[in-house]
Amino acid sequence: MPDVSIFHRPKLAGQLADQILHTSPTSASPSGVFLAAPRRTGKSTFVREDLRPALEAKKAIVIYVDLWADRNVDPSELLAAAVRAEMGEHANAVAKIAKGFGISGGKVGGIDFSLDRIGIGKDVTLAQALGALSDEIKQPIVIVIDEAQHALTTQAGMDSLFAMKAARDELNSSAHFGLRLVCTGSNRDKLAMLRNSRDQAFYGAPLVPFPHLGEDYIDWFCKHVGLPAALDPAAVFELFKKAGWRPELLGAAADALRFDFGIAAGDVPSRFAEAVDEQIEGATSETLRVVRALTPLQTAVLLVLAQSGDNYRPFEAATVEKYRESLTAAGEPAESAAKVDVPSVQAALQALQEKSLIWRASRGVYALEDASLREVLLDTGSGADPAAPAQM
Ligand SMILES: Nc1ncnc2c1ncn2[C@@H]1O[C@H](COP(=O)(O)OP(=O)(O)O)[C@@H](O)[C@H]1O
Ligand SMILES: [Mg+2]
Repeated sequence: MPDVSIFHRPKLAGQLADQILHTSPTSASPSGVFLAAPRRTGKSTFVREDLRPALEAKKAIVIYVDLWADRNVDPSELLAAAVRAEMGEHANAVAKIAKGFGISGGKVGGIDFSLDRIGIGKDVTLAQALGALSDEIKQPIVIVIDEAQHALTTQAGMDSLFAMKAARDELNSSAHFGLRLVCTGSNRDKLAMLRNSRDQAFYGAPLVPFPHLGEDYIDWFCKHVGLPAALDPAAVFELFKKAGWRPELLGAAADALRFDFGIAAGDVPSRFAEAVDEQIEGATSETLRVVRALTPLQTAVLLVLAQSGDNYRPFEAATVEKYRESLTAAGEPAESAAKVDVPSVQAALQALQEKSLIWRASRGVYALEDASLREVLLDTGSGADPAAPAQM
């Protein structure tokens, strides 16, 4: 039975699936596709409910792994576990590997081989496992890594991405049946780290802005919302835009009204608009509260990071100068601006990380934890005026 609580996007899924599986004689080895969209706008829902079935309908095997599924588990382990789980479904592929490596362990499909031996730093590399799987199933494999940037937070996670790249290059050679990588992420700055530099696994991979839900979703929402009076889709679409395309905020606003039993039908549209505003405010106020409690230097570091995006170099002299300018613009005395040095910046970055405002890749590259924070910061002045967008 189709899930009526989800609006499906089969057309988009079909188009994307075609692009993903497409092989062209001119593209040496498709690097993979990166889908980027802000948090809570429906990426994971789309990937699980629409894209995966669309890929499977085109005869691909899909291995889905969400690197946020358990933040306490190393991303490399989550990736390896997903590959092992798929291997576990294909006894012949496991048999082949076991034979090739002359290793034994627990029984899998009647074979003495433990799937635990597959992974980073284990007997069987991910590329070998995927190669055996490809030969066995003779179908393209698509690995979907949800919140892929999270792999950058540990060395083993980064190693896994390189293992995936190696597997991709191997399986896209004529001897096999193809491997495609689809990565999603909430933060363009973070995803950019995976694709922009030559020493990264996905150098040059195309970044596709994942389309947010649109008017057809709003029509569907208005039809199913079940309030005592109808909502006007055009008005709700404007509210949806204001809510940053986050379906949950509309859903929560509708829930708030649903429990208001005394509401007159004529008041429904205006009350719904108010409820959406309250939801939007609620979503940003917690972050603002944390931002307002920062020290002046922490605020300055955060603002300069927000303004610099992926050009941010925390400890360069020019950047330290920007922190100073930001402090001065915020009305801090000249002496405290002059005191900014590398250790104090380091401490500020550490504190911002602990407050989950910024994110650090294992190589010491920084980004805002949540890209929407940039707008919040630059919009509100955050207690300190953003420094004049200094020479960038
Ligand atoms: N197609 C959809 N139809 C209905 N609700 C949706 C849809 N996509 C997302 N949502 C709602 O929005 C929430 C966030 O979606 P999710 O897929 O987790 O976003 P993301 O992965 O981008 O953070 C979901 O819990 C769901 O309630
Ligand atoms: Mg998600």
